[in-house]
This record gives sequence, structure tokens and C-alpha cells, in this order.
Amino acid sequence: MAAPWVILGRVARIAAAAAAAADPGDDAEADPADFSLAVALPPYPYILAAGPGCLLSRFSAAPFYVARFGLDPPDTHLVLVHRFGAAAGGSGTTASAVRVPDRPASMPAIRNIEGVGLVGLDDGEGYVIAELQIDSGSDRARLFRVHTGQDRWIETELRNPLPARDREWVPGGVVSLGGKLYWFNLSWGILSCDPFVHAPDLLFCSLPPGRVLDLARPHIHNSRSIMVSRGDLRYVEIIPEDSDNGEAARIFMSTLEPTGWEVPYEERFEEIWNENSYKKTWLPKEVPELVVVCPSNPDLVYFALEQHIFSVNIRGHEVLEFAEETHELVNLPWPTPASCRYVLAWDLPSTAAEDCWRSYLEEHK
Ligand SMILES: *[C@@H]1O[C@H](CO)[C@@H](O)[C@H](O)[C@H]1NC(C)=O
Repeated sequence: MAAPWVILGRVARIAAAAAAAADPGDDAEADPADFSLAVALPPYPYILAAGPGCLLSRFSAAPFYVARFGLDPPDTHLVLVHRFGAAAGGSGTTASAVRVPDRPASMPAIRNIEGVGLVGLDDGEGYVIAELQIDSGSDRARLFRVHTGQDRWIETELRNPLPARDREWVPGGVVSLGGKLYWFNLSWGILSCDPFVHAPDLLFCSLPPGRVLDLARPHIHNSRSIMVSRGDLRYVEIIPEDSDNGEAARIFMSTLEPTGWEVPYEERFEEIWNENSYKKTWLPKEVPELVVVCPSNPDLVYFALEQHIFSVNIRGHEVLEFAEETHELVNLPWPTPASCRYVLAWDLPSTAAEDCWRSYLEEHK
């Protein structure tokens, strides 16, 4: 059986009693999540990355709603949360937090939290955290790294492999796979390197053929994503209907192989809508938003429509799970889809998994 995993909202909901004063409208206690962790207040946590047995979080002193900082970036403090365990008394999860060293004043601050990647080692005991910064027009890229056991960040200059120097590189997310980091931009492509070597080579790979956009689109995270499933990097996209060309709305998926993108496969939404399993959900026949791909099964894709999350075996066109309750995965002050931007798929550490399973059984007794 595949390891239990969760869809983790990145904007953590503050649910402890102490938070009641800060947010009187929060009814999180009445509506327990499957996975929750008590944090000390007041800092506002935002989960940047999830690794095996660890989470990387940024804390800010005030709620914070943009990923990209302007010319005057605020202080960023990073914390690695690890050593998950069940709380005494059997309810909730405990963990320890380690403060990641701050960058010295002489080094540029973190520019974009969507460009901070994590490789977790030894079940969360070790880490490498890295950010890549590229100024448009420059033939150099700057890699900022910090490893466990080191008390400082190091900066390395790398060759900039981007094919168009005048196009600005803005990361839309980072994933880690096989000890490497992949910074992606959902309209352009992927930069990757091995953060463990002294002077890594930075490589560029465009999005699959036909998927590159000349201009970035707003809300692109609602329909495109790059994630790891069953040990491979996958590009997933919901391609909308194009009636001019007689093309129906469909889901597109391609896997990155050492030789390049694999021939993609595509499934039309109509095929899913026409199945009984979809009709049973009572959802309208509308193109949903993309949420995540199951980390162990690339055919199993999670979507959201009208705040409901459902999973579809896309090759079989069959809806497998449908959440009757509307999701509250994204804790922002305005309605926000549970898009790949705000959620992470995370394989639960075994200690936390047991606890989630126990509370699930309690609730469904
Ligand atoms: C991709 O890059 C463009 C600039 O080239 C930027 O405007 C956009 O926000 C980036 N977005 C994502 C989500 O990858």
C-alpha cells in the first residue's frame, strides 16, 4: 500500500485557543482538520516546501499575501519543522522546529518565496535549502544555499542557461527529486541543478512542445502544475476548450525523461463528465481547477470545482473520491481556489500518519 499522504494548505490556519483573539471568526476548532500542528504565536507561517519527514516554513510578523517581494524585501525567517510524533493523550501531532540561519546583511535577501527549494535528508534530520536568483539580461545566475550543520548561507555564481536573456525569470515553484532541485516557471520551463555539488551546472528545459507561452497568464497555477509522482517529474495542464479549432477541454500530462518530455497523454473532460461516477457527484459539467497529482499514482489527479475537491482516475475517466464538504484548504481573506499554488502533496511521516488514521477512525465510527 502506498504511504498515506495529505493535501496540505500552505497558508496555515491558526487554530489554537491563543489564536481566538487574533481571529475571532476562526472556527477551526469546531472543524478539525485531518492533520494539524500547534505553533507558537504570533508569527504567521507559510509552508514553502514539504520534504520526507519535514516541512519548511517562512514566518512573518504580519499576515502576508504576496510571493514576490519588491525592491525592499521584508525579513524572511525560515524554520524547518521535523521529528513529527503523536501528542500525549492521542490527539494532535507534535514536532520540533529548527531555525534556519538568516542571511547576512551583505547578501541579497530572499527575493521570491516561490523560488526557495528544499531537499530533506534522513527523514527530516538534514536539509539543503536553496534559492536561485537571475537578473534579466545577465549571463550569470546566483545560487544561495544553506545546509544542515552550517551556520551560514553560501552564494555561488553559475552560468545562466536561459535561452532568452531579455525575458525575466520568475520562479513559480520548486520541486525536489532525486537530490536535485527543479525551479519552474509555468509559462516557460524548468531550471535544475544538484545543490550538493560545489559548482553545479544549471540546466534549462522548456515546457513540453506547444505548451510554452510568450506571455505569462494570471492565475496560471489554477490550470498548470509541475510535480513529482511515482518518482518522476510530471507536467500537468488543463487545456480549455478552443471552439475556433474545434478542440474540447482536456487534461494533458507529460513526464520528463532523461531524453526529454515523453509523448503526452490527454483525456477530454467530456469523457469524465459522461461517466456515472461523475454524475453521482452532482457537480456541473464545468472545467475544474487543478489541485494536485497523487504522489504515488500519476493517473490519479485531484481537481476542485465549486470548492469541492474530487479525484479522478484520468485514464479510466472515473471519479474515485468526492469531498461532500467544501474545502477550506486555502486560508486567505478572499475566495481562492485550492490551486497548486496554495497546496502541497505531502507523504505523512509514519508517526503523524498513525495519528491521522486514528482521528479519522474516531470521526467515522
Ligand atoms: C513566469 O514568468 C513570468 C515572467 O517571464 C512571470 O510574469 C510569471 O509570474 C511567472 N509565473 C509562474 C507561475 O510560473
